[in-house]
Amino acid sequence: MNVEKVRCSVKTPEDKNKLVEEIRRLKKEKKAVILAHYYQRPEIQDIADHIGDSLALARYASTLKDVEIIVLCGVHFMGETAKILSPDKKVLIPDIEAGCSLADSCDAGEFEKFLEKYPGYTVISYVNTSVDVKALTDVLVTSGNAVRIVETFPKDEKIIFGPDRNLGNYINSISGRDMVLWDGACHVHEQFSVEKLTELKKEHPDAKVLVHPECKKPLRLLADKIGSTAALLDYARKSDAKEFIVVTESGILHELEKQCPDKHFIAAPPEEAGCSCNECAYMKLNTLEKLYKCLLEETPEIIVEEKVASAARKPIERMLELS
Ligand code: 13P
Ligand code: SF4
Repeated sequence: MNVEKVRCSVKTPEDKNKLVEEIRRLKKEKKAVILAHYYQRPEIQDIADHIGDSLALARYASTLKDVEIIVLCGVHFMGETAKILSPDKKVLIPDIEAGCSLADSCDAGEFEKFLEKYPGYTVISYVNTSVDVKALTDVLVTSGNAVRIVETFPKDEKIIFGPDRNLGNYINSISGRDMVLWDGACHVHEQFSVEKLTELKKEHPDAKVLVHPECKKPLRLLADKIGSTAALLDYARKSDAKEFIVVTESGILHELEKQCPDKHFIAAPPEEAGCSCNECAYMKLNTLEKLYKCLLEETPEIIVEEKVASAARKPIERMLELS
C-alpha cells in the first residue's frame, strides 16, 4: 500500500479552522476524547487530547474517566485494544480500513497451528496483532515494554514471540533469550535501507541515529538509540545533540520538532528513491474530515465480540500490570 506524500488533507486554512472548531464543539457535546498515535497526520496530532505510543494509548484507554466516546486516531488494533480495556465506552476510528501490515502478517488460524508445534511454551505477542491472536497469547508487549516484560520470565523459560521477527530478534539479542519467532514484519520498517542510512550518516557525522526496533538488524546496528516512538522522543529531548536521523515512520517528526524546536530531524529515506514508503499508508488514512464525520455520525465504531474480548483482555491486563 502506498500513500500520496502527506500534507494537510484540508484545502484552505479557513476550512481547516472551521473543521477544528466543529470537532472541538462535538467533542465537548458528546463527552468524547481523541487519542492519537505519533504517526498520525500533524493536524490530527494537534487536535488530540492525548498523543502517545501504543503503550500510552492503551493506558489512556484504561484510565479515562467521565468519557462516553473514545476516538482512536491510529490503526485498527489500537482501537480494538482501547475497546477491550474500555468496553463500556463507544470506540470510534475515523477510517475503519486503517489496518496494519504487521498484524496482517499473523493469521490467527496459522498462529494456532504454529503454537501446537511448541507445547508448554509461553506465548508473548506484540500488541500489533488481531484480537484473535491476542486471545491465543499469555502476555502482550509493546515496543515500549517488550524487553522489560520478557526479562520478568526465568532465563530458561520456553517462549514463542510473534508476530514481528525484527522486534523478537532485538529482544533476544538484548535479553540473551532464544525465543522462537513468528516470521512477520511491518512493511514500513522493512523498507529502510542500510546503504542510504550509511550515506546520510556520512553527510551528517554528528547526527544521532534513532531507530525503531521493528527495523532489520543491520539498521539497528547503526543506531545510537533503539526504542518505541515515545522512547525515541524522550532520547531526543534529553540529548545534547543538535541533529538526528530518524529511522521510523516519518509522522513522528511533527512531535519531535514540537518538543525540540532547536534541533534538526532528518527522516531516513526508504530503499526506493522518491517513494513515500517511510509513511504508514494505514495511519495516514485518518484525516481531519473523517475525524469530524466520525464524531458527528458516531461511526465507524470498533466492535469486539465479548467472548473474544474477555480472552484478549487477560494478556493486555497482564502487560499493564508488568510494565
Ligand atoms: P510504538 O508503540 O513504538 O508507538 O509503535 C507502534 C507501531 O505501530 C510501530 O510501527
Ligand atoms: Fe503497522 Fe507498520 Fe503501520 Fe506500525 S507502521 S501501524 S507496524 S503497518
